[in-house]
Amino acid sequence: LVVKGTAFSSIDSKNVKVFENSLFCISEAGMIAKIISPDQEEYEATIQEYTSKNKFQELAHDQYILPGFIDLHIHAPQWAQAGTALDLPLYEWLNTYTFPLEAKFSDVQFAEQVYSDLVSQLIKNGTTTALYFATVHREASLRLAEICSEKGQRGLVGKVVMDDQEQNPEYYRDASATTALVETELFIQEVLELNKQTPQGVYPVVTPRFIPSCTDDSLKGLGALATKYDIHIQSHCSESDWAHTFVQERFGKNDAYALNDFGLITEKSVMAHCGFLSDDDMKLFAEKGTAVAHCPISNAYFGNAVTPIARLLNDYQVETGLGSDISGGFSPSLFDNIRQAVMSSRMLNDGVDKDCCGEKRGVSGSSITLNEAFYLATAGGGESLSLPIGKLAVDYIWDVQIVNTKELPLFSDEEPLLTIFQKILYLTRPESIDEVWIQGKKVHDKNKKELEVQE
Ligand code: GUN
Ligand code: FE
Repeated sequence: LVVKGTAFSSIDSKNVKVFENSLFCISEAGMIAKIISPDQEEYEATIQEYTSKNKFQELAHDQYILPGFIDLHIHAPQWAQAGTALDLPLYEWLNTYTFPLEAKFSDVQFAEQVYSDLVSQLIKNGTTTALYFATVHREASLRLAEICSEKGQRGLVGKVVMDDQEQNPEYYRDASATTALVETELFIQEVLELNKQTPQGVYPVVTPRFIPSCTDDSLKGLGALATKYDIHIQSHCSESDWAHTFVQERFGKNDAYALNDFGLITEKSVMAHCGFLSDDDMKLFAEKGTAVAHCPISNAYFGNAVTPIARLLNDYQVETGLGSDISGGFSPSLFDNIRQAVMSSRMLNDGVDKDCCGEKRGVSGSSITLNEAFYLATAGGGESLSLPIGKLAVDYIWDVQIVNTKELPLFSDEEPLLTIFQKILYLTRPESIDEVWIQGKKVHDKNKKELEVQE
């Protein structure tokens, strides 16, 4: 298949590349095999060849291609309470709203209803890959992986482990460290099996909820399982003052080093939030290749903090991506999270003009640019997961969203493409996402109700 259109993609955290009226040649396997620009000799011949084969799609003049978004941290069951229950601090929120809700996912039918709706919503919002926390229930967690597989989304899914009999409520926890590990290993095997028949990939993820919910035994066993199967790991790390202090009191060190002692800080680890990382923690992440999932909307509620993204990216070169943290964050849209990432970083910065007022607030050099926030939602997420996604480049997977600019304030034909890019990022609404493709397959078409995913 060949798609002709204008596209935007990160080259690195600072720079965005514009592909103007380019041809994207997509292989049977859903990979970008070649990108041809209009000044190349084969341009016209390629259009003709693929038109005659009925394998050519040309975008309208007001449509643009962006890489699909990668949601690096999302709690699938919490979709049922998204946009509500944002009035309590983390510990009380978990016990009052979140654990009772997640406990209901012992009912697989209820789980199926919520998960099915969520995956469809995420796809419509341009999210082509998601790293999910499910619940402690193996069966319902497997349903989430199956739903991703069926709907064509790339899903990385974790059965959550919370086995500490004191910290977790009786109605919602693993029965023991041993059961938690047995169930996790079974889950890993089931998802690895499912992955064999899923072209876009579904992957099992080792998922200790966070240190306070796990015993030393389960943490140790989970580290061993991650090594045995060579799979991804996810957890919450130094999110709030409460969680951070809890770990300090239990282990006399920060989350990062405590998790590292259990073999949970690896090249395949993604740690959510990280609002309270020390310099040593950041160095450890950089050394190990562990990634940070930045959840800027959620951090305004439960972290009461702004994760120092500029330092992670620029001072320590830590792999970093973007997460919605549904329902700690209320929005399933990574467009919304891109906007919040920029705004929060600017609030962390010392915003005052020192020559004018003299008063210094915040931390110099904290602001990130729109390009950097876009990078987090796309290429940064791909690097964090060590998958060839999030960029438009040869040998990357064709995971894209096609957005139209009909509703944007564009009143001149002379707008530079990078200006249009900014308007897209700040102003696009989900209704303007016309199509979403994952692994070379169209999985959402706004003008068709429900697309059957072939194969
Ligand atoms: N820490 C432990 N569990 C959770 C959760 O579900 N959401 C958030 N934001 N933080 C957590
Ligand atoms: Fe979270």
